[in-house]
Amino acid sequence: MPAQSQSRETFRWTPRRIERRVKKLGEWFHNIELNGVQTAPQHKLGDYPTVKWKRFAHTIPANLHGKSVLDIGCNAGFYSLEMKRRGAARVLGIDTSETYLEQARFVAAVSGMEIEFRKLSIYQLFELRETFDVVLCMGVLYHLRHPLLALDLIRKYAAAELVVLQSMLRGSSRIYRTKADYPFDERDVFRRTGYPVMHFVEENYCGDPTNWWIPNASCLEALIRSAGFEIFIHPESEVYLCRPQKKLQRAGDVLSPPVATEVVRP
Ligand SMILES: C[S@@+](CC[C@H](N)C(=O)[O-])C[C@H]1O[C@@H](n2cnc3c(N)ncnc32)[C@H](O)[C@@H]1O
Repeated sequence: MPAQSQSRETFRWTPRRIERRVKKLGEWFHNIELNGVQTAPQHKLGDYPTVKWKRFAHTIPANLHGKSVLDIGCNAGFYSLEMKRRGAARVLGIDTSETYLEQARFVAAVSGMEIEFRKLSIYQLFELRETFDVVLCMGVLYHLRHPLLALDLIRKYAAAELVVLQSMLRGSSRIYRTKADYPFDERDVFRRTGYPVMHFVEENYCGDPTNWWIPNASCLEALIRSAGFEIFIHPESEVYLCRPQKKLQRAGDVLSPPVATEVVRP
């Protein structure tokens, strides 16, 4: 047997090896257990994203055999891995951070899962030329300068059956459904508790300059509807299961031709 294939066969990801590699791969946002080693045991949100996942996992189909999944903003691949564990035929994770993608590839290798990870922005979805049965967009929206454009792009280029969306929310959690129209001199409605509001972060939130827009609950629901999705399950305060609506709410195709530029804070 050639020396190279012999060493590949005998190579094992022992906890010591994993620990060393985890350290080398930089700061982890996902806490994932790999052969007894945790990648981010000190996470400020606890055992994250497991704590979040446990609150809505039961609403995602347990059997994803034959399905394709796109995990937007996949980070170290926690959700990609969970989708693969449910039998998805193809899982593609995309992220703009090479550091996180390297972590994700490592996690998949140690877990023995075949998952593709690619450096791609949500604004480049049209480059994939592929739609997916399931699209996850977890914890990404508030990191975007153009959140509604991103939702429009998911609707137009990526989503076939199910979109699972999660966003940080701030402000009132009351859902205020606006009327279809108001006269010009209507002022009070904008002061109503729960009116759809997007909070703009000019500099930092939580020490993080990549936070741009944080919606309240009404606003997130309105954005989802406005991008042409119907919400059909809301299992957790920040998580929405949506499906594409046949008809868009308003006339006009804002995405033709596609505008897709990544804008970052200077
Ligand atoms: C808060 S983390 C969420 C990670 C994971 N989806 C989760 O819910 O645990 C946000 C992730 O979105 C990625 N991201 C930020 N801007 C992006 C963009 N324009 N396109 C794709 N991913 C992006 C970040 O690199 C990061 O991995």
